[in-house]
Amino acid sequence: MVDEFKIEETGRSHLNFTKKIVLADAEATFNLGIAFGQSLTVGSVILLEGDLGAGKTTLVQGIGKGLGITESIVSPTFTLINEYTQGRLPLYHLDLYRLESPEVATLNLETYWEGFEVTPGIVAIEWAERMPYKPSSYISVYLTYGNEGDRQAEITLCNCALSEVIATL
Ligand SMILES: Nc1ncnc2c1ncn2[C@@H]1O[C@H](COP(=O)(O)OP(=O)(O)OP(=O)(O)O)[C@@H](O)[C@H]1O
Ligand SMILES: [Mg+2]
Repeated sequence: MVDEFKIEETGRSHLNFTKKIVLADAEATFNLGIAFGQSLTVGSVILLEGDLGAGKTTLVQGIGKGLGITESIVSPTFTLINEYTQGRLPLYHLDLYRLESPEVATLNLETYWEGFEVTPGIVAIEWAERMPYKPSSYISVYLTYGNEGDRQAEITLCNCALSEVIATL
């Protein structure tokens, strides 16, 4: 299942890490999200990239489930951001699809991951390729279509604390 694994220690406690996994169906995408939702620590940022329909929202729905959110998680394509406060940590779900990079720059997205003006939580951003800047530490999930209706996820941890490394990865 794993066809690439690279791990590099950047300091005593921070890691860069890339792994590719196959997600056979929507349930597998959802279950990966659950694993994230159960183990992510406050302030984690998940950057989701991939073509239309690649499974980004499905993954965030799993994250919500893993955090203990029972409310249904719907794509914030038009609302830009949906906030869910029911789970063990708040979930901020953003979708940048309708924006261009310069517009994204004006949004002060760091408000969400710095957690100064909002209650600190988990930030999940669809169409993260539209971001002109990124947080200093993040988890990126790049979803692509497989040949048989499946999906592949390339998961990269960038400067993540050891505590953010998900046991199932
Ligand atoms: N691993 C998978 N294998 C097959 N189908 C999947 C997989 N993961 C998700 N799907 C399905 O793909 C469809 C699109 O999923 P989803 O809405 O999550 O994609 P998205 O990347 O958020 O799309 P958009 O680009 O519109 O935001 C859904 O029907 C979902 O059930
Ligand atoms: Mg979506």
